[in-house]
Formats: sequence, C-alpha cells, structure tokens
Amino acid sequence: MSLLQIYNVSKRYEALAVLDDISLEIDRGEFVCLTGRTGSGKSTLMRLIYMEERPDRGQVIVEGYSSERIRRREIPALRRKIGVLFQDFKLLRERTAYENVSFALHVTGTPRREVRKRVTRALTRVGLGHKRDAFPRELSGGEQQRVALARALVNEPILLLADEPTGNLDIEVGQGITELFQQVNYQGTAVLMATHNLGLIENMRIRRVHLADGRLTGDIESGSE
Ligand SMILES: Nc1ncnc2c1ncn2[C@@H]1O[C@H](COP(=O)(O)OP(=O)(O)O)[C@@H](O)[C@H]1O
Ligand SMILES: [Mg+2]
Repeated sequence: MSLLQIYNVSKRYEALAVLDDISLEIDRGEFVCLTGRTGSGKSTLMRLIYMEERPDRGQVIVEGYSSERIRRREIPALRRKIGVLFQDFKLLRERTAYENVSFALHVTGTPRREVRKRVTRALTRVGLGHKRDAFPRELSGGEQQRVALARALVNEPILLLADEPTGNLDIEVGQGITELFQQVNYQGTAVLMATHNLGLIENMRIRRVHLADGRLTGDIESGSE
C-alpha cells in the first residue's frame, strides 16, 4: 500500500472548479514537488490530504485512512503522522527555539524525557542544535523557518506537507531550505512540497507534478534530461 492515494478527486468552491478529476499516488519515502501558478489549487490539494476538507468527488487515502470513511475522532491520529509547514510559519515570539518545537508535544501529554529526546533530534536534523535557547528575534529568517521545520518533524511524521515553504525567503535561503527537505527525505520522510517558484527546483532530480486548470499533469522527473 502506498502512503498516499488520490483517486479522481474533484473540488469546487461554488462556481469555481479548483480540482477536476485529479489522481496521484505517493510512495513511502518519495519526494514530490507540486508546481502550479498562484490560484491553481495547490493549497486546496494540501488541505484535502490533511483532511481539513473533503473532496466533492473521488477519494483521498492517507496511510489507509480514506476521506470517505475516516471518523472525526480518528483525524488527530492521522495528523500526528503528517508534518505541516507553511509559508506563513508562525513561531511563538516569547518562546525559544526549543520551546517552539516542544509546544505541541506538551499539549498531547508526551512524557518529559521523550519530549527532550524528540525535540533535540528534530533541532539537530535541521542543523539548529546549537540554537535551541535562541528566541525567534535572534534568528535569521531561514533559521526561523528551520525551527518551524523542526516543529513539523517532531512527531517523526511519515509525510511532510510543505506549502510554499520558501515563499517569503530570499532565493538562496529558499534553496537551503529545499536542500534540507532533501536531507529529511533521505532519512525516510516522504515530502510533498508545493511551490509556484520553478527556479527553486530546476536543478533538482525530483518527481514533479503540475497543476493547471484543475488538472494534474506532467508527472515527470526534473533535471533528468
Ligand atoms: N475556502 C475557499 N473558498 C472559496 N474559494 C477558495 C477557497 N480556497 C481557495 N479558493 C480559491 O480556489 C483557487 C485555488 O486556491 P489555492 O488552492 O489556494 O491555490 P494555490 O495554493 O495554488 O495558490 C483560488 O482561486 C482561490 O481563490
Ligand atoms: Mg497556496
């Protein structure tokens, strides 16, 4: 069974058909880049995968949880397996890097020792082990984004959903973040990254899918020619 299966999904907002009969499959450990212009439906697709919304037609299956059958009380368990990272990543300003990453774990009642272990590992994974006590204002934009990435990784998700994660960053910083995603991916986490910035990935050998006019096209590997 693959990690994510999307079968013939359509989604509209009133008169606007955003997704029109889309199918996509992502395997464990894969890295897929979802491209498409602003307004093409990338975020909508991400929300369907995170089960924040349901498709009008078709089915989304994540780790065996189907959008047609999942119960409301099963959604938190599913979401613990998915890390999310958005362009507008908000860190708590009055909390250190460590506290920002550990916050969600305290909420779910994870034992203290386990919290320490996971937070340390997540910060190390993003190369910020030495900045654990820094406040957001003491970190650069790229470093803040890496704290947000550590927060997304702290539950050791099997899938990372990154929606325009480099949107507010300089191109070089954005490329650094993208390389970090690749490292995260080498360590076994599947990544679905949405971006309208094709320049960011032009030299990367990754699977690409493209959204335009509601359709998903061009399931191609970039940089392979
Ligand atoms: N909740 C909503 N209600 C109405 N229209 C929406 C809603 N969410 C998104 N849209 C519209 O759907 C289209 C796709 O949006 P979105 O998925 O955010 O695209 P992208 O992430 O590729 O920029 C846009 O035209 C947007 O205005
Ligand atoms: Mg979007």
